[in-house]
Amino acid sequence: MDIEKVELIAQVSLDINELKDLDILLERILTHVRRFFHADAGSIYLKQEDKLKFSHTQNDTLQERLEPGKKLVYNTFNVPINNDSIAGYVAKNKKVVNITDVYKMDSSKPFTFGSDFDRLSDYRTCSMLTVPMTNQRGEVLGVMQMINAQDDQGHIIPFSNSDEALVQHFAANAALALERAQMTRDIIMRMISMAELRDPKETGAHVNRVAAYSVEIYEAWAVKKGIAEDEIERQKDILRMAAMLHDVGKVAISDMILKKPARLTSDEYEMMKCHSYLGARLFRNARSEFDDMAAEVALTHHDKWNGKGYPGHIDPLTEKSIPGFEGPDGKPVPKKGEEIPLFGRIVAVADVYDALCSRRSYKKAWSEERVLEEIRNCSGTHFDPEVVEAFFSCLDVLRSIVKRYPDEPD
Ligand code: C2E
Ligand code: SIN
Ligand code: SIN
Ligand code: FE
Ligand code: FE
Repeated sequence: MDIEKVELIAQVSLDINELKDLDILLERILTHVRRFFHADAGSIYLKQEDKLKFSHTQNDTLQERLEPGKKLVYNTFNVPINNDSIAGYVAKNKKVVNITDVYKMDSSKPFTFGSDFDRLSDYRTCSMLTVPMTNQRGEVLGVMQMINAQDDQGHIIPFSNSDEALVQHFAANAALALERAQMTRDIIMRMISMAELRDPKETGAHVNRVAAYSVEIYEAWAVKKGIAEDEIERQKDILRMAAMLHDVGKVAISDMILKKPARLTSDEYEMMKCHSYLGARLFRNARSEFDDMAAEVALTHHDKWNGKGYPGHIDPLTEKSIPGFEGPDGKPVPKKGEEIPLFGRIVAVADVYDALCSRRSYKKAWSEERVLEEIRNCSGTHFDPEVVEAFFSCLDVLRSIVKRYPDEPD
């Protein structure tokens, strides 16, 4: 193997190991590995309980059929870990499966190719290399699948035997990063389940959605601003985790208020508002850019573009105004416009979108039409108009996120 390739592999491994958030990590793994093998498409399945969950996919051909800047929207589905399907077989037997053409497999194979995805998306899967993602203890965490290798002219070719070893190397590397990211995610989810509603089922979905919406809105905003791709990727990783923790300050709010099945009184609402700076306080011993961002998002996600939100220019520790920002009543002057950090402005839209679309103990879910009208009406008052514009430009992807993180039924 030439030295350039070896260096590229080392770089990919380094890059992957820097990422802490699971979703962003998996996207990046797919991008790197597909580029390396000139694969037109690729998917990752994650093991969840006794099934494989189809969790991430990329497909250049299908992507090209979309308008520029639009993203592929796909459904997640489950595959049993048994010999019936290719991915199931690979997970069950911890074996690599390299197929030249999935429609021309010899009948001695125990598995069959499920052509539903091809039919639904009008795609032709041909060559396919599927490898297990195993950790150091030999446990299967998921399956990585590369689809339709291409030569320099773009013709579909089989994956070679030497590709197999390399994909396995990447898969092992990915499994390692995956375990770490999963651990970070688990710790965050535990913090969250202590916080909001103290009910991990309901809140898990809300925070995952708000985080996923925020990342999409940020990406749409950043692409329009011409921000460099690697900078966008880096920020997405931080934003996702920070957005998940936006309401972590609710841990300090009493259940009586938090779970009240009715409108809050104005006193109760004043108590509730404290969740913004109380959340920020949790990250006061900031050690990393991530802690800073998490504090910023918790603090500012209820400030409004027109300066009518809360908590404004407050010091989360002393609960007093930042010097020079005392209003006539001694209370902190509200923040407005770009005084509110970008991530706060983004999470504000994502949070309200999710709150309005969802049923709460104190309100019904709104129709989508009404929700979108409200978001549009609040552009320039509650929300940053540019963020609202970014929101509408990625609405299709936002809708697909709802399907990925549905609320638990009562
Ligand atoms: P949340 O339920 O996640 O709502 C987040 C934000 O979405 C709210 O921030 C508000 O800006 C918006 N929002 C939610 N529902 C509605 C609605 O029916 N109409 C409109 N126009 N906007 C809505 P806000 O107001 O600062 O509230 C922060 C948190 O305080 C809420 O988070 C919720 O946990 C709690 N809360 C607010 N009002 C009530 C209430 O009347 N009863 C109860 N039990 N909790 C409330
Ligand atoms: C309020 O309670 O004053 C506004 C919050 C909401 O509409 O949910
Ligand atoms: C709207 O303009 O309110 C909806 C936009 C859309 O569906 O794309
Ligand atoms: Fe909040
Ligand atoms: Fe929230």
